[in-house]
Amino acid sequence: MTVYDLVRPLLFRLDAERAHTLATRGLDVATSIPGSGWAFNTLQVADEVLQTTVCGLRFANPIGLAAGFDKDGRHVRGMAALGFGYLELGTVTPIGQGGNDQPRLFRLSVDQALINRMGFNNGGAAALATRIATIPRSVPIGINIGKNKATSNEHAAHDYVRCIEIVGDLADYIVVNISSPNTPGLRELSRREPLEALLHAVQAARAKLRHKPPLFVKLSPDEDSSGLDAAVGAALATGVDGLIATNTTVSRENLHSHNQRETGGLSGAPLHERALAVVRYLVNSTAGTLPIIGVGGIDSGAAAYERIRAGASLVQVYTALVYAGPTLVRNINRELATLLRRDGFASVAEAVGTEK
Ligand code: FNR
Repeated sequence: MTVYDLVRPLLFRLDAERAHTLATRGLDVATSIPGSGWAFNTLQVADEVLQTTVCGLRFANPIGLAAGFDKDGRHVRGMAALGFGYLELGTVTPIGQGGNDQPRLFRLSVDQALINRMGFNNGGAAALATRIATIPRSVPIGINIGKNKATSNEHAAHDYVRCIEIVGDLADYIVVNISSPNTPGLRELSRREPLEALLHAVQAARAKLRHKPPLFVKLSPDEDSSGLDAAVGAALATGVDGLIATNTTVSRENLHSHNQRETGGLSGAPLHERALAVVRYLVNSTAGTLPIIGVGGIDSGAAAYERIRAGASLVQVYTALVYAGPTLVRNINRELATLLRRDGFASVAEAVGTEK
């Protein structure tokens, strides 16, 4: 029994977005209480078997916070205190925008899933830059960027370039998000020609930064093999450093919760198999040349290990955090370390892509 086992029923009586705001604020308060450090120290798993280096970045462990949880970089200290090896902030857009009308986040508790149609609600890239410019950093911070809803696809490259100009120098890595289902038409940017044009523009903007943070492209689980091939082709042709698989899905299969008919992107346990399959597909189609961040339905050390053995160099979580609470990352890290050692691996990197 954890404290979260007591808190969760109370949070789950609230609207899901309201509960998210309360929980993250509660975490901020908890981490700022003098003397609370010992409690949060118990969530850090310092184990050399978990350390890894990807694209020149060093991670104390391979478990990251997925984009969307802390879009505006308001909770960096609190989320780092939960034991994450890195955090991905955003999606941010050049100009702040309100997103879709509420309610727009729904729990599917029976399915251990969420449906969201947030629609890139965020305070804008400049506000994020101001907020994180001076904060102490204990873990690498990725920044995930997108386009404003009002920007047509024809002008989308301008939005991504603006974001890089504004936040690029503060990012340990940058993610081009062309896979959210909640910005109309966004996923069309993942086709070969538009994506290649977009990535050329993004690379040119990145080349002007003081440092050149690695560039990742985040893909949709709803692309078939030819759609994934097109995106991979564009990524390889433009010298992208890595891929993130995957964003949320618009498919709805084998769900049992009453919220299943809500419009939006589905995340959590029902996404697990498809997101894993996409990692496997990408490893094959790139011949393992591009590092992959695996995300979608990861809720345990075993699931993280499976994704790593399938070919992911790093993984991320979002939905499982809502259901399992603040001890999730510690538990994943401990279990992952045990599994790596059980199978004779001296590091995460050694285990990447070793399945079969
Ligand atoms: C997301 N996700 C997301 N992804 C992204 O690239 N930009 C974003 O702004 C968001 N926003 C967002 C909001 C909410 C409420 C959820 C639940 C998810 C997708 C997220 O980063 C991740 O790819 C999926 O949720 C799959 O991982 P999990 O949740 O199954 O661990």
